[in-house]
Amino acid sequence: MSSPDKRSEAGRLEALWGGEFGDAYVDRNREAVNLRGPFWSALLDEFPAKRVLEVGCNLGGNLRWIAEKIPAEEVHGIEINKKALAELRKELPVNALWGHARELPFRDRWFDLTFTMGVLIHQPPEMLPLVMAEIVRCSRRYVLCGEYFAPAPTEVAYRGETGALFKRDFGGDYLRLFPELTLRKQGFLGKAEGWDDVTFWLFEKTA
Ligand SMILES: C[S@@+](CC[C@H](N)C(=O)[O-])C[C@H]1O[C@@H](n2cnc3c(N)ncnc32)[C@H](O)[C@@H]1O
Repeated sequence: MSSPDKRSEAGRLEALWGGEFGDAYVDRNREAVNLRGPFWSALLDEFPAKRVLEVGCNLGGNLRWIAEKIPAEEVHGIEINKKALAELRKELPVNALWGHARELPFRDRWFDLTFTMGVLIHQPPEMLPLVMAEIVRCSRRYVLCGEYFAPAPTEVAYRGETGALFKRDFGGDYLRLFPELTLRKQGFLGKAEGWDDVTFWLFEKTA
């Protein structure tokens, strides 16, 4: 009977991000994203993509930079918090959809690049394989994640919540679960780049 538990834990975190807790995140994080342009510009020069999806895009702190490199109609975001989505839609003419990471409403291989930044860390560990499988399924070529690294799974208290933030070797998990992925680039993004000490992994589907 593990399945109903998985769903209820995912539902709890989805409700958290969809509610006041998620709204407060939107208010706190408007400024940091101003520094992210150089990372996205260099990444898309090195690994060109024509159609991109961000899962958990919040108010578009990554998508705004991606939309400077490729046409906005080819830039897609899916997000669970409606306040973030409303702000994003006011600011950017990208495709912004409400939805869950565990069930992406796109056909297989529809995007050249699918990615998360600071979103896998907020999934219940038992849901990770399903969320990662959705992200891999929707990409034709590249998969990126930028998340908090720890060599072994570690829960971290997060703004008074338990069971809401988990560090781990997300890059290692992708490689273990999806043999069709090959690591193309890995790096670290600190405050100067507009992130909060995040490790990123960029994979290409090679099988
Ligand atoms: C820490 S924020 C990161 C936002 C953005 N990726 C960035 O780099 O600025 C996590 C985001 O993921 C969203 N999120 C969390 N769980 C989600 C889920 N299961 N499905 C869709 N979005 C989710 C949250 O609402 C929030 O906007």
